[in-house]
Amino acid sequence: MAQPYYKSHWVEIEPERHAVYDDLLKFHPAMERLLEPLELGPGLKVLDMGSGPGHTTMALARRVLPGGHVTGVDINAEFIERAGDRARAAGLQDAIDYRRCDFPPLPFAGAAFDRVWCKNVLEYVDDAAASVAEMARVTAPGGIVVAVDSDWDMMAVELGAQTRELTDRVLAAAKSVALNQPRIGRRLFHLFLEAGLEQVDVKVFASPDRKGLMTGMLRNSIARYALDSGQVSGAAVQQWLAAIERALGSGRYLMLLPQFVVSGRKPA
Ligand SMILES: C[S@@+](CC[C@H](N)C(=O)[O-])C[C@H]1O[C@@H](n2cnc3c(N)ncnc32)[C@H](O)[C@@H]1O
Repeated sequence: MAQPYYKSHWVEIEPERHAVYDDLLKFHPAMERLLEPLELGPGLKVLDMGSGPGHTTMALARRVLPGGHVTGVDINAEFIERAGDRARAAGLQDAIDYRRCDFPPLPFAGAAFDRVWCKNVLEYVDDAAASVAEMARVTAPGGIVVAVDSDWDMMAVELGAQTRELTDRVLAAAKSVALNQPRIGRRLFHLFLEAGLEQVDVKVFASPDRKGLMTGMLRNSIARYALDSGQVSGAAVQQWLAAIERALGSGRYLMLLPQFVVSGRKPA
C-alpha cells in the first residue's frame, strides 16, 4: 500500500531539502529552555526520537558526557548517515549511535533509557498515542520523557490584508496533507497522562518572528507541501512566496508558531 504523504515526504528527501533542514534544524541557544525539563547530566542514557540532521542529538550528547550516551532514531536513511558523519566530525562518535526505524513501535527493550526526547516529530507518525506509550515503555523507572511540538492550528502568519485569504489557503492545503496530527501540541498533555506518566507538566513558548527567522519553514516546507497537495496552483504559491518577501522587505512580516513542551516522569 502506498505510504501517506505525511510519511513519504520524510522517507524521500531531495538533496536541496536536506541542505535546508541542515540549516533550519540547527541547535541554537534559545532552544536551551526546551531541554531544561530533561534534567540532563553526566552518565545518562538518552533516546532522541526522530533525530533528523542530528544537531540537537549532539547538544544532548554534550550534556550527558562524561559517561552518557545518546541513541538517535529516524525514518530517513540519509538523515541517519549525515547525522553520523556530523557526530564523527565533532568527535562525538563514541557518545552517539544512530539507527533507522519507522516508529511506533521502537526497537528497544523496556526501561532501556534514562531520558526520552522527541521534538517536532509526533505530528507525522501513524499513531501518536502509541508513540508516546512507546516512549514511556522504553524509559527506566524514575526517568523523564519530554516531547516538544507545535500546534499547527495555532500558527499565525500575517503578511497584510491583501494576502490573508491566500495565506489561509496555502496553510490549509499544506496542513491537510503534510501532517497526521496538526493539533499534536495541545494533545500531548492527555497522551502523557494516558501513557501512565506522572508529574506531567506543560509549558508553551511562543516568540513572534518579525525578522524572517522562520521563513525557511514557510518557503521550503509549507510552500512545498501546499504545492504537493494539488489544492493550490503553482502560480498561487509563487504569489504567496513573493508576498512573504514583500512583507519582510517592508517590515510587515509576522509569524508565530507556539511550541508545547510536555514532560512527565515514569513511575519509580
Ligand atoms: C521536523 S523534523 C525534526 C528533527 C529533529 N527532531 C529536530 O528537531 O531537529 C521531523 C523528523 O521526524 C522524522 N520522522 C517522521 N516520521 C517518522 C517516523 N514515523 N519514524 C521515525 N522518524 C520519523 C523525520 O525523518 C524528521 O527527521
